[in-house]
Amino acid sequence: MAARRILLGVTGGIAAYKSAELVRLLKKAGHEVRVVMTRGAEAFVTPLTFQALSGEPVRTSLLDPEAEAGMGHIELAKWAEQVLIAPASADFIARLAQGMADDLLTTVCCATEAPIAVVPAMNQAMWRNARTQRNIRLLQEDPQVVLWGPDQGAQACGDTGPGRMLEPEVILGLADAGDDGALAGKRVVITAGPTREPIDPVRYISNHSSGRMGYALASAAREAGARVVLVSGPVTLAAPAGVDVRPVITAEEMLREASRAVDEGCDLFIATAAVADYRPEICAGDKIKKTGETMALSLVRNPDTLATIAGRIDAPFTVGFAAETTDVAHYATDKLQRKKLNMIVANDVSAPGLGFNSDNNAVTVFWPGGHELIGPDSKANIARRLVTMIGEHLGRAPR
Ligand code: PMT
Repeated sequence: MAARRILLGVTGGIAAYKSAELVRLLKKAGHEVRVVMTRGAEAFVTPLTFQALSGEPVRTSLLDPEAEAGMGHIELAKWAEQVLIAPASADFIARLAQGMADDLLTTVCCATEAPIAVVPAMNQAMWRNARTQRNIRLLQEDPQVVLWGPDQGAQACGDTGPGRMLEPEVILGLADAGDDGALAGKRVVITAGPTREPIDPVRYISNHSSGRMGYALASAAREAGARVVLVSGPVTLAAPAGVDVRPVITAEEMLREASRAVDEGCDLFIATAAVADYRPEICAGDKIKKTGETMALSLVRNPDTLATIAGRIDAPFTVGFAAETTDVAHYATDKLQRKKLNMIVANDVSAPGLGFNSDNNAVTVFWPGGHELIGPDSKANIARRLVTMIGEHLGRAPR
């Protein structure tokens, strides 16, 4: 991977001790590293630790005449080719989201033109807090910022849940991912999983999609250097590292979130989700009681996210999926034309052990004038091949 000048911002949190290992790994990978610490960070790790590991003086204050006489904060902001904030506390995220510049780290973030990767670390309740989530949404809409994590699991305070900082090895992998990958620098939006269409407060219509195909594609696109937003229906999978997951339940929510993500900037849209084509016309307010031997539900058509995105004037390169049990090629190519897609990935889901809710798949990719078979293979391998293929077609597509 290309060696880069990385400015590591360390903010106050128990995960700050892991950033020492991160500096060691970044240096070992050949990067130049300079560290800026907030006052909060100094309560957990001393600047001397980072100075010893980075081989560079550590900056802690904006108003330090001696340090400013060396490399001033504006020079520091210009020096950085990548800003990496790990751990990023709830307080720092709030201040970054508001564009504040009241200490050295926020000032550097304001002054730099380098991409800023934010690696959150905090207690699970702080992460779930509505104000933190509002600040996260602001950062998601900021084209200069990308969020890596957080991870789930046991926390230093004894709680369990989302908010753990990604491990240093994972952060290094994300920092180095795909500089020259098939989707380097591209903004990708992917839909995955099923949708659930409520019948009453306790029942819904859905399908067997596990989300695995979409999550594998999100990881592969991230590995290939893309910034990935994954709009996911309800699944039990962990968020892929470095991918911005936006959970939804219904088809209408999927359209809303996917459209919002595309509005934020999107070069490539991939729809793997198994979206319910219909929803109950009325969702009963109370649990429906058994009354007769039969029961009829009136269903209405759901909006089509893929067709809506492909039909935009500013449509990105669009790739659809088609799960079929008969006449696979015929139905898939029909969807390719009807929905005005650049590519479609056809799944024969009649084969046992492939397609829905399994680790493996076999697909045929169609585009105007050609097709290619991939698999049977693991969904992870199929996703990697698909990303390479899509990257080649995207490179040739007229802008
Ligand atoms: O999730 P897994 O268990 O890993 O399984 C993967 C999968 C089998 C679900 C996946 O590989 C797949 O084939 N997804 C497409 C499912 C499908 O049946 O799509 P469709 O033929 O109904 O729709 C065609 C395309 O339009 C799809 O890209 C779909 O996401 C999109 N669509 C459909 C309807 C709708 N209302 N909105 C949409 O965006």
